[in-house]
Amino acid sequence: MMLYDSMRHFLSPADLTSDERAQILARAKVLKADQSAPERSALRVGALYFNPSLRTRVSFEQAVWRLGGNCQTLNTGSDTWQLEMDPDAIMDGDKVENIVEAAGVLGRYFHLLGVRSFPGSQPWEIERTEPVLQAFARHTGVPIISLEGTMHHPCQSLADHLTLTEKFGDDLRGLPVTLSWAYHPNPLPMAVPNSFALQAALAGCDLTLACPPGYELDDEVMAQIDRESKANGGNFRVNHDRLDGAKGAKVVYVKSWGRKDLWSDKAAERESRQPLRHWQFNDEAWEQTDSAKVMHCLPVRRNVVIAASILDSDRSIVLDEAENRLWAQAALIEHFAKMQGVLA
Ligand code: CP
Repeated sequence: MMLYDSMRHFLSPADLTSDERAQILARAKVLKADQSAPERSALRVGALYFNPSLRTRVSFEQAVWRLGGNCQTLNTGSDTWQLEMDPDAIMDGDKVENIVEAAGVLGRYFHLLGVRSFPGSQPWEIERTEPVLQAFARHTGVPIISLEGTMHHPCQSLADHLTLTEKFGDDLRGLPVTLSWAYHPNPLPMAVPNSFALQAALAGCDLTLACPPGYELDDEVMAQIDRESKANGGNFRVNHDRLDGAKGAKVVYVKSWGRKDLWSDKAAERESRQPLRHWQFNDEAWEQTDSAKVMHCLPVRRNVVIAASILDSDRSIVLDEAENRLWAQAALIEHFAKMQGVLA
């Protein structure tokens, strides 16, 4: 649990206890089944974006609406002043407002604040310290919900967990799941694969990471996945073969991400991945699986990352995942709002 002065935040799938996760998933199913109009509540939620979004923005606002509250979305820079992220900066440049005051002010308006901030192009060892989300957690004074940071996208993985329970039942221990890297022209963030793999480990899945050499996840997250897999009755292994890594899987989560050692040199990274264009999840790869359901967080590049023949078939459950962002987040926000004493 991420804590500053006893304040709880949701920055990683591991920031919920297993009991809380079970309660939130059960509540998400109730909310999903309940089509009644919400009663108005006092809940005020903010959502601050440093990067674009379709699913997160819409589902987060709709989740708060489902709880009878109000959600205000802000895009930094266009809806706000340009923020200086260094509390100790001498602000004689073009930045108008410091994170310290901006976060403190938003904490006076909202009971909870969601923040999205993707990594920049500093070396991975710097980016992985998550300076933006950590600064908001330190200075806002209310719980921060990650809407995707450098290390994790915990709202996505909570929705993915909900989706898996709908397809395979609440007990996912031993479920053969492959997280499969895919080619994409650009080096993408690592938050979704880190979170999906950790969430699968927390659920006790039999997890395979299929990726080319050099594309392993964050080192500390890999160690955490290994620990949590063992603790929860699962397994974790790495397979560097695209087809063998999919063998026997009931679930394949397809995603592209950048390699850690070339994080600060995007041109070199793009060059190094050119021989990996065949890492597309297509019918040939699917044939290796045990009639797997295919997952992706979206947005996805058709016929680059996943073949359209898969996306357009009932093998794909990507729309279920996207819908479940709404219900998982509604249950999560309700849980935090109850802890804040805003909802009964
Ligand atoms: N999966 C996801 O977070 O989508 P957006 O980037 O559109 O929010």
